Amino acid sequence: MYQVYPRSFADANGDGTGDIDGIRSRLPYLRQLGVNAIWVCPWYPSPLNDGGYDVADYRDIDPRFGTLADAEALIAEAHALDIRVLVDIVPNHTSNEHPWFRAALAAAPGSPERERYLFRQGRGPDGDLPPTNWTCVFGGPAWRRVPDGQWYLHLFDSTQPDLNWANEEVRAEFDDIFRFWLDRGVDGFRIDVSHGMVKDLTFPDVPTIEELLETSKTTDHPHWDRDGVHEINQRWRRVLDDSRRDVMMVAEAWVSNESQPLYLRPDEYHQVFNFEFLVTPWDRDAAAIAIQRAVAAAQAVGSAPTWTLSNHDVMRHASRFGLPADTNWRTWPLTGPHDLLDAELGLRRARAGSLLLMALPGSVYLYQGEELGLPEVWDLPPEVLDDPVWEDSGHTQKGRDGCRVPLPWSSDGPSFGFGDGDAWLPQPKWFGDLSVAAQTDVPGSTLELYRTALAARAEYMSHDESLEWLDLGAEVLAFRRGSGAICVVNYGEATIDLPHGDVIVASTDVSAGLPIDACAWVRPG
Ligand code: NOJ
Repeated sequence: MYQVYPRSFADANGDGTGDIDGIRSRLPYLRQLGVNAIWVCPWYPSPLNDGGYDVADYRDIDPRFGTLADAEALIAEAHALDIRVLVDIVPNHTSNEHPWFRAALAAAPGSPERERYLFRQGRGPDGDLPPTNWTCVFGGPAWRRVPDGQWYLHLFDSTQPDLNWANEEVRAEFDDIFRFWLDRGVDGFRIDVSHGMVKDLTFPDVPTIEELLETSKTTDHPHWDRDGVHEINQRWRRVLDDSRRDVMMVAEAWVSNESQPLYLRPDEYHQVFNFEFLVTPWDRDAAAIAIQRAVAAAQAVGSAPTWTLSNHDVMRHASRFGLPADTNWRTWPLTGPHDLLDAELGLRRARAGSLLLMALPGSVYLYQGEELGLPEVWDLPPEVLDDPVWEDSGHTQKGRDGCRVPLPWSSDGPSFGFGDGDAWLPQPKWFGDLSVAAQTDVPGSTLELYRTALAARAEYMSHDESLEWLDLGAEVLAFRRGSGAICVVNYGEATIDLPHGDVIVASTDVSAGLPIDACAWVRPG
């Protein structure tokens, strides 16, 4: 599965923003790369306050990205190349420009229009304190007051009001949105914040750490991962099953290891993102534990594990792996890590980590540009920052723009082949050296490594879901897959011998053994 962030993938009309025609023009590239499916991040009409995760109309396409006809053409053309298409559904919140929210603001407290969202009176004698202590994921309080004195809930930016999933009208609307896209031929859905839709409608405060320690109670969180989400998952699954097509849905659910299998029960999601593997540092035992756990959890419910190292919300792994192990990269700091970055180490480990990823059973989710070994772009000047995290965090966190810089397709040109004009986020000068053109047919390039690995994955790593661990030393991670092919990663301090056999693909030159921070697949001889 290849994640396309439409704004930054390819810009066919030269306006600086990627678009559907850009994706269509690059389908042959994706075919050649060897992906089976694409997941397209939100392309709906949106003020793009949160890059499109603020949807104003779930049944249309933003004019900056194209038209519904363009989307239908993309789906048909992808299918002709045997590439399936997933769209992104954002059920937790809408944009504040959605007609429902406009109607809610125009209506009175207590009206049916307000009941589609979560409006409440504030606390304190004048109601001027937020109804709860809940905080917005991007920073600051999760409530905003409207002129008549009520407050509405927004777990993300204040332009992303949360829907009221206790309201049957909201549920029915989303059933219909699923059907709308199924009727247009999509093969599935990625569900945004799938663990957030159900709230405790008694609106308790979130306990503080101190309160939790005192009661030693594992909390029933008032808005994350509540039991009620499963009923919604099941409802959607019925809509998908009723289509009688081979379609799937994958959950973005930042939930505990114990909770994850619940989302994967046969009448719920087909897959759920495995973020434990993504956040695992470069460490042999940590990687082995994360892999083991995900494989076991998926097997227990008859599902397949998923693997991902990068997406549009996290620092690119070519940079992450080049930072000291104790760096808190998740908060997108303004300064600091940049000075500590060892870019060469990061890329070496990223190539090895990606090769490991592609040897695993289940499904691999790649994020656009990682096949070029793109690092995070650190030095975007504050005036171009677009992610709401920048404002919402009071300028204490830079946000996610550094992993969303438009892709370089050619070595020169106004936006390195992204489009005919300047890109919506500035690309660094060195982007051209990492472009698709600069890496195509270049032996040893990261792009050719991905192409070779994806072809070899289809041949050697997709026979079945089995994985047998091998003991090749304390600092070596090694396993055999159903075809007999072996994957070996060297996390140690010295080059090691590879098992006898033919090397199928390797993240670096292995003529003298497997160097540190490297991965190879071997067909035993
Ligand atoms: C998760 C999405 O991946 C992220 O980009 C977005 O900001 C939040 N959900 C809110 O929709």
